[in-house]
Amino acid sequence: MVVVAIDGPSGSGKSSVSKAVARRLGLAYLDTGAMYRAATVWCLDRGEDLTDQHAVAHAVRVMPLVMGLDPAAPGVELDGRDVAAAIRTTEVTAAVSAVATNLDVRSELRRRQRQIIEAEREGGFAGGRGIVAEGRDITTVVAPDADARVLLTANEEARLRRRSLEVHGAADATAVEATKDQVLRRDRDDATVSQFHVAADGVVTVDSSELDFDQTVAAVLDVVAQVTGRE
Ligand code: DC
Repeated sequence: MVVVAIDGPSGSGKSSVSKAVARRLGLAYLDTGAMYRAATVWCLDRGEDLTDQHAVAHAVRVMPLVMGLDPAAPGVELDGRDVAAAIRTTEVTAAVSAVATNLDVRSELRRRQRQIIEAEREGGFAGGRGIVAEGRDITTVVAPDADARVLLTANEEARLRRRSLEVHGAADATAVEATKDQVLRRDRDDATVSQFHVAADGVVTVDSSELDFDQTVAAVLDVVAQVTGRE
């Protein structure tokens, strides 16, 4: 059983790189950001006031969420409904920090994340081979004892360019400018509860600013190979 923890800011390429690493190693894949997004969809659908910390925390504690762990097709099911698309809307992206900075929500979702990681030990999706979990606090809080811990970073310019391509399908000056506020504000808000810009002790930083996708995946696989002896 191997646990790979990957943290990083938006636009670092964390999700696609983590999925590729999981596929290469035959491991399960957990997108913890998708859990905060699903919690946001759940609260918005129920008409919760996102500034009401108690109401939001209560709603999230009873949230029937099932995370699909297949890196080739990671599903997100809320009360039996496929919400993989609903969690990526601009409305949810704009609202998610309000939910993710709620400390009671964080402790509930961290508890569920640890449960999912533990279930992989017993068999789970990858038959006991292990899991790649990615987010903002996996290397530090959710799985500080992970076998490999990586902080995936990229400079601001690279992150904005990638996000812009993802959201607008273009990375010209206008498209980048349109993404800028959102990306930087969200990272600033998120940083109030998780310190994901600085690598904690024992966490290896992979800077992808000058690397293409395949090179970034190779760099992360390298870190995993060094600590686990896996190629
Ligand atoms: O990585 P993402 O954009 O899908 O993350 C969605 C939100 O959840 C973002 O505001 C950061 C937050 N998040 C978090 O606080 N802790 C995590 N482990 C993962 C995501």
